[in-house]
Amino acid sequence: MKKTVLSGVQATGSLHLGNYLGAISNWLKMQEDYNCLFFLADLHAITVDQNPADLKHSIISSAAIYLASGIDPKKSIIFPQSMVSAHSELAWIFNCVTPIGWLKRMTQFKDKAANADSASLGLFAYPVLMAADILIYKADLVPTGEDQKQHLELARDIAGVINRKCQNEIFKLPEPLITGVATRIMSLKDGSKKMSKSDAQENSRINLIDSPDVILEKIKKAKTDNIQGVSYEPETRPEIANLINIYSALTGISSEDIIAKYDSGVFSKFKMDLAEIIIDKLNPIRSEYERLMQNTDYLVDILKAGAERAEKIATKTLDEIKTSFGFVV
Ligand code: TYM
Repeated sequence: MKKTVLSGVQATGSLHLGNYLGAISNWLKMQEDYNCLFFLADLHAITVDQNPADLKHSIISSAAIYLASGIDPKKSIIFPQSMVSAHSELAWIFNCVTPIGWLKRMTQFKDKAANADSASLGLFAYPVLMAADILIYKADLVPTGEDQKQHLELARDIAGVINRKCQNEIFKLPEPLITGVATRIMSLKDGSKKMSKSDAQENSRINLIDSPDVILEKIKKAKTDNIQGVSYEPETRPEIANLINIYSALTGISSEDIIAKYDSGVFSKFKMDLAEIIIDKLNPIRSEYERLMQNTDYLVDILKAGAERAEKIATKTLDEIKTSFGFVV
């Protein structure tokens, strides 16, 4: 029996190089060997206020990016979370068994909620919905970037609570899969902050659909330091280490070999080469994205077909849990 892989991206704004290197590029490799479900976390998107037209565009354009990156709807199930209502129902049941103390420890909530009292209840319960996303498909493996680690641990803890309550191994514990040199790509403007869709500085990230000129400009303007040459010192030169990690993730060349190639040269040459490597990688994705966005009906059809397949699996798990809890199904 093939194992099940599940992962997703929040459907807000534009997907960036961190999403690609930390998550999507790993998903591509898994499509042949596993039963894969890759969804768009649109319910997670509304944990902060969204303009409806922008949300709709984000859902469809993120689907286009999945396909343009090589996620193949013939091999993987692609769907928006909001089309499979069992995620929300299971999340409610999980809400009722998850101690508030566990959620208070979540660093993402602390980072995102400037004022905890005015943040939405949804933002606080965000990791519970994420646990439902994973466990409803009884996923074996969840490939994500580093920043999701704490949420994945919570999903395992919730699975344990349910199994103990129901005195049954309903859920296997999902394994986080956080691998490679690009599990945490940092902002191009600040090596202490991760590259993020929500960063107000557009120059802090490379969007997957940025044009070659924009990519070149962003890399040229990426923060560096006053130290001569290229060296890999994440503690003291975090911005340079980040650029080396991006170079390494895109080419498969180790950081040692990258340093050996550039250490005696001028830094601008390293940056120019890096920009070219990124452009070569993203150009085909951008042009395929543009082609797909010409026909959004086709994209919506893919999402609906994916949701239908996902729903069959999800409903089975939900019924199992409802029965265990004493609901009449
Ligand atoms: P999101 O949309 O923030 O990120 C999507 C994926 O991209 C990874 N990622 C990064 N990897 C490396 N460097 C970065 N700077 C970087 N930024 C983002 C994330 O780790 C993630 O793998 N909560 C999730 C979406 C979600 C989900 C799930 C994921 C909802 N339910 C269930 C897995 C399983 C999120 O907001 O990802």
